[in-house]
Amino acid sequence: MDKLKITGGARLNGPVRISGAKNSALPAMAACLLTEGELILENMPMVNDILTTRRLLRELGAEVEFDGGNTARLKATRIASHEAPYDLVKTMRASVLVLGPLLARFGKARVSLPGGCAIGARPIDLHIKGFEKLGATVNTEYGYVEAVANRLKGANIVFEKITVTGTENLMMAAALAEGQSTLVNAALEPEISDLADLLNKMGAKISGAGTSVITIEGVETLHGATHSIIPDRIETGTFLVAGAISESNLELTRCNPSHLSGVIEKLREAGAVIEEGADSMRVRGGNELRSADVITHEYPGFATDMQAQYMAMMTQAKGISLITESIFENRFMHASELMRMGANIRIDGSRAVVAGKSRLTGATVIASDLRASASLVLAALVAEGVTTVDRIYHLDRGYEKIEEKLRSFGAQIERLK
Ligand code: EPU
Repeated sequence: MDKLKITGGARLNGPVRISGAKNSALPAMAACLLTEGELILENMPMVNDILTTRRLLRELGAEVEFDGGNTARLKATRIASHEAPYDLVKTMRASVLVLGPLLARFGKARVSLPGGCAIGARPIDLHIKGFEKLGATVNTEYGYVEAVANRLKGANIVFEKITVTGTENLMMAAALAEGQSTLVNAALEPEISDLADLLNKMGAKISGAGTSVITIEGVETLHGATHSIIPDRIETGTFLVAGAISESNLELTRCNPSHLSGVIEKLREAGAVIEEGADSMRVRGGNELRSADVITHEYPGFATDMQAQYMAMMTQAKGISLITESIFENRFMHASELMRMGANIRIDGSRAVVAGKSRLTGATVIASDLRASASLVLAALVAEGVTTVDRIYHLDRGYEKIEEKLRSFGAQIERLK
């Protein structure tokens, strides 16, 4: 298993180009199952979750080719299987996104139940209830969800709780249903709007994406399209924290500051100096940081996917900060590793109390999930001495060329094979 060796204390300076959003690219790839036509997806992040999705789609019978850069061509003229097997779903929960498209176009889908993961139980009951509302018969047995339907029928679906991939799955299914569907209490994340844009380019009739009520007028068939994936707001936020906690002057290019307003506001409250351009940002570090409480929230609130990185930053802020995780029940696994580096953190249920500023020192730490890994890398950038981050396959799932990017502006970071 690869590890990252990071020597802290370097001054970071330079530009970094933000990649396409993993969480937009994953549903966009699944959308290829909705049509015989070819999808050309640009600005794709070449991260491991994308390669896992390629494997899954190929197993289903789709053709998926990457051009060696950041463009993917996907075509599912016909499919060979309706099943997303356990070994793929267990490595990537977003595999569940094939359920809606397979069911809508082929009337049948069988997907392994994802089960819990390092950040929480993460059931998919709301996806299932939605498919039932659209007229599917759904059975859960032998560890699999099996859904069948003739043509899906439009319905009014009210989500009891906001779910990002649930909204995406139902939006894709409803796009090919007969008649009109409404998704009420839909997720507002930019990734939802990006998927709706793609589906509309494919001939879908979706309005209201980006608001809590999405209306979908079902169509008989969809066609191919070309689409460019939006910038990754979590990668952007991670680099903003990298700049804020170290002696830095970083320029983030090809990003969308308007997708990060909740995060930018909080980082500024904590003392970060951030300038926003139309599609770029500059962050300057070296100022004294101050503690600022945060509660994670669905978009446009402070993203749960930025909580771990923010915790690393709060270890370097003066005072006590209270970090409340309201989306996932077990997303503090990074705290104990940060403590091994010298952080002063107490976990109390869904709240973490961070007392700063702590002197961090290098240690061998273990990454437990994608964003936890990022927080350990950030802490390592300011720790004295050498930190080795183990199990960075988590990091490779969602950050494109992270060590190359960090090294390009001066971080001392090396991958140990
Ligand atoms: N939930 C249910 N039932 C459901 C679906 C969700 O109870 O049927 C609960 C979840 O357990 C959780 C909450 O609702 O407590 C929100 O979960 P959501 O469904 O929104 O999460 P997700 O769609 O599985 C996506 C991102 C995550 C991100 C969350 C929250 C993708 C592929 N994944 O997950 O990204 O944390 O939304 O914003 O889009 C990451 O990139 O590191 C990551 C984990």
